[in-house]
Order: sequence, then structure tokens, then C-alpha cells
Amino acid sequence: MALWGGRFASGPADALAALSKSTQFDWALAPYDIRGSKAHARVLARAGLLTDDELGDMLAALDKLDADVASGAFGPAPDDEDVHSALERGLIERAGPDLGGKLRAGRSRNDQVATQFRMWLRDATRRVGAGVLDVVDALVAQARAHPDAAMPGRTHLQHAQPVLLGHHLAAHAQALLRDVDRLRDWDRRTAVSPYGSGALAGSSLGLDPGAVAAELGFATSSANSIDGTASRDFAAEAAFVLAMIGVDLSRLSEEVIVWATAEFGYVTLDDAFSTGSSIMPQKKNPDVAELARGKSGRLVGNLAGLMTTLKGLPLAYNRDLQEDKEPLFDSVAQLELLLPAVAGMVATLTFHTDRLAELAPAGFTLATDVAEWLVRQGVPFRVAHEAAGGCVRAAEDRGVGLEDLTDDELVAVHPALNPDVRSVLSVEGSIASRNARGGTAGVRVVEQLEALDAAATEI
Ligand code: ARG
Repeated sequence: MALWGGRFASGPADALAALSKSTQFDWALAPYDIRGSKAHARVLARAGLLTDDELGDMLAALDKLDADVASGAFGPAPDDEDVHSALERGLIERAGPDLGGKLRAGRSRNDQVATQFRMWLRDATRRVGAGVLDVVDALVAQARAHPDAAMPGRTHLQHAQPVLLGHHLAAHAQALLRDVDRLRDWDRRTAVSPYGSGALAGSSLGLDPGAVAAELGFATSSANSIDGTASRDFAAEAAFVLAMIGVDLSRLSEEVIVWATAEFGYVTLDDAFSTGSSIMPQKKNPDVAELARGKSGRLVGNLAGLMTTLKGLPLAYNRDLQEDKEPLFDSVAQLELLLPAVAGMVATLTFHTDRLAELAPAGFTLATDVAEWLVRQGVPFRVAHEAAGGCVRAAEDRGVGLEDLTDDELVAVHPALNPDVRSVLSVEGSIASRNARGGTAGVRVVEQLEALDAAATEI
């Protein structure tokens, strides 16, 4: 049903109608449109534009419409352009043209869609946030289940220094928790209702935007009606946080993928969270992690697409803005599929702690400990770094570990290298010594996991 006609001699061309149509995706906003309509009916009545009886009939018709939408009895018709026009048709069918036709006073699809999209996103990001916290929980539980497991920490993917497995897993949890915090912070900024902005200039009918905002769960209403209808930075910011979640899941997933190779041998994936091959009977593939890595590209694309849609738009509303919803709907839908799978994959990983322990000192990861031990003996770090490097060369030449160097070999590298240096030539000693806040020492990791738990419940 067209919402205009007065000044038009003909209806839209079929090609325009097909191009214009958005009910195939914006139907997701239907429950929010009806909630908005109820709030709008109440402010119309308060402004004296609907009698009490009319308000009662209007709310009853909207309730009926809500139920019919929920049951599927009412849906978009081929001629409906968007969810807003379809629901106005539905209201008129239930309340009659005289009463039903009154609800459009003082509002526009421009402020309706801007408000409803915010409402939809605020609900959706809460669901996504809960899904992210499930991944955080799974990481923390795995960290707790392996309190003493050491592994080779890496930089440049090369062995660097030994760390606790729990410290490494908690690093992923920290990043994901910040994403949830970003969603919360975003929500505070997005809790502003554009309803009452009208097409762009506000309403002349004495309607109270604050009352609508409160009824729809917003903290306040837009301070500027042009901004209320034209701005979509809330959508772009949400698209960024969703993309960031995707990227953080992707980085975790990339590690799981390499950890599950025979060459690394750090983990075995649970059967329920891995797939086989149609031709190679031996295969066990990390498809959950690969889909996380793959979908993160799509989430970044949704962000880039929306930013590009917005960049040249003059104020206020332009029809280009109809392109704002699908990228966000998609990012949310992908994460809602992905997050439970990633949480399940992490929760069911089997870590091969013997393999991790064997590799923890490999690649001379204790060389920094030798240098720092020398610093504690009063040797300047520049000299200590050279000496520790000399130990690595000596050990490498003989094909042994640093701990296997003889007393003579040590002292030949640097006179301060007495046998006591062996006290730091163990993975356990190295890890325990990094005990300042943020370090990998067991006590610090236990504290960190407690703080992660507390932050996750607080959010
Ligand atoms: N369906 C449109 C959107 O998603 C809202 C309609 C506004 N249309 C208009 N001609 N002002 O943005």
C-alpha cells in the first residue's frame, strides 16, 4: 500500500517497486514498529489528538496486529514497500481507515526506522554479548583446568619465552571481554530515541518525545531532529564492534587450527566440533575455527560496506540509508551461529600438556632468563644480552639445551656465569619469576582468572 498519492498521477513503475522493497529483510523490525506505534498512540492521546476511546481501540488493534505478526497470520503483501507501510495497512485493516489513519500524524518513517533499528540492535547486541561471554567462560575454564601447564610463548610465531597455557588462553579472554565492554559502552550512547524527529524537522503537534523514549526503553530522546533521522554512526559503531569480535575469534581460531596440526600437536579437537573428509578417512578438520576465520572477513566487509554507504550522504534522511540494515542483520546472524560453536570447540579441546611442556624450553626460550640473571649479578643488560647469546651459540654448536652447558662452558662465555645460573634454567623457574602484575607467574594467572570471572559477571 503506497503511503502517498495526493500529488501523483500514476503509481510506481514495477522496476521501482521491486528496487524499493525492503520487507524481505526489514520485517525483523515489525515487533519494534508496533511497540513504537503504541507509544506514539499514547502521546497522541496525551496531546488531545486521540480520545480515550480511540486510544483504547487503537491499542487493542495494535495488540491484535502484534499477535497476528507473531503467529504469522499477518505478513508483508507483495505491494507493501517496507515493514512500516505494511503494518500501517495491517492497522487500518483492524482499526478501520478513520482511526487507523490517525496514527501517522506527527511521525515519519524516517524517525520510525531510525528508532526501531536502534531498538533491534540494542537487543541483538545483548544476545551477542552473552554469546561472547560464553566463549570467555570456556577459555577461563580451560585455563583453570590446566593450572601448571607451560607452553612456548611466541613472537613472530617463533619460540620466545615460556608462558603458562592459562596465561595465553586468558589473553584471548581479555580481548573478548573488552569487546563486550565496547558493546555496553556503545549501548549507553545508543540509548537515545529519534522518535519525534519526524521527517527531519521535529513535530508541530505537541507530542512528547521523552515519553516515547522512556516507554521504548531509551534513556532520552534526540537533541536534534536532523541528527536523529540522518545519523547512522550507531550502526557503524556496532558493525565495528561485531567485526572486532569476529577478528578476535579469528585470531583464536587461527591458533586452534595450527595447534591441531601434527607438527604442533598441542590439541585434539573433540569429534563433536570437528569434521571429516569425504575422501580421506584419516582426516579430522577444524571447520569451526576455519568458519570463524572466514566469517570474520565477512563481518569486516559489512562494516566497510556501511561506512562507504554513509560517507557521501548529505543531511538529513536519504534513501541510501535503507542499506544500513542488512549488513548489521548479517553480522548479528553470523555471530549468533558462530559464538556457540566456538564456545563448544574451546570447551571441548583436549590439550596435550606433555607436548606443550616438552616444547616450552625448546628454541632456547630461557635465554632471556640467563640475561636477566646476569643483570641481577650487576652485569649491564647490553653485556648480559651478548653473554646469553653466547650461551645459545655454545649450546647450539653442541646440539644441546642451555641447561646442558658445563660449568666451564658457562664461565668461558662470561666470568659472572657461575653454576647458580642453573636456578633460572628451568621453565618453572622462569615462569614463576615473572610475577609482577600482568606476568605469567602462576599466582598472577590465578588472580587474573578471578578478575576475568568477576568482570564477566559484572557485565
Ligand atoms: N524503508 C526505509 C528505510 O529503511 C524507510 C522509509 C523512508 N522512506 C522515505 N521515502 N522517506 O530507511
